[in-house]
Amino acid sequence: MRKPLIAGNWKMNKTIAEARALAGGIVRGLADSPGVAEKVDIVLGPPYLSLSAVAEATAGAPVGVAGQDCSAEAGGPFTGEVSVPMLKDAGATHVILGHSERRELLSEGDARVAAKAAAASAGGLIPIVCIGEPITTREAGTTLDRIGFQLEHSVFSVFTNTPAELVIAYEPVWAIGTGKTATPAQAQEVHAYIRKRLGEAFGVDWAGNSRILYGGSMKPGNAAELLVQPDIDGGLIGGASLAEADFLEIIRIAAGG
Ligand code: 13P
Repeated sequence: MRKPLIAGNWKMNKTIAEARALAGGIVRGLADSPGVAEKVDIVLGPPYLSLSAVAEATAGAPVGVAGQDCSAEAGGPFTGEVSVPMLKDAGATHVILGHSERRELLSEGDARVAAKAAAASAGGLIPIVCIGEPITTREAGTTLDRIGFQLEHSVFSVFTNTPAELVIAYEPVWAIGTGKTATPAQAQEVHAYIRKRLGEAFGVDWAGNSRILYGGSMKPGNAAELLVQPDIDGGLIGGASLAEADFLEIIRIAAGG
């Protein structure tokens, strides 16, 4: 019932020319895999500078484009920031928000993530809000408390009305770029909890139709066992999204082979 969503977070990688080539390769790969794009939604998340090039390279193809962040402001004296209207103008359809690298390296807190999610949603972009626990939290056995807190303060605090569309990405911090992956059972437990909380906040029907992505060292070798879990609706993929063949393989796995 939920169409899987496979999103690539390219992070701070790829020149404009490299981004155009990778996006073009993915579009060609999809064209060579009949039926796959009907079964999976696909989003590419290049750095800001490559957004337009990737939007052009994917024009007409069933591929969305995501910014990796946005400002909560629509415009004005905010040096270095990029607004939702600017992202839309460049061709973005989605925006990744609250990634743990931004939370850790740039001290981005839940309140700011919430403000950005509200601005993105109001401005017509689909927010992909990232949440996830550090290793100390998992070892302390308080992962679900932490996830609940992040949901409350990064999402529920700003959406008094049910958002049109919102994607949650569960990304255990200890699994990002480390080669360590949450076991399917660990990930499923958290995804089921997220869906339960979304249902309480926005209604069971809405939650049942919303995608919850797993992120953290997802690759062709482990994608199947993760994606088969009932509450894992896709992936937010870092390293493996930079390699055309790996990303296409994950898309094919999500499509069911
Ligand atoms: P990796 O797939 O490289 O672990 O990165 C995951 C991630 O952070 C996606 O946003």
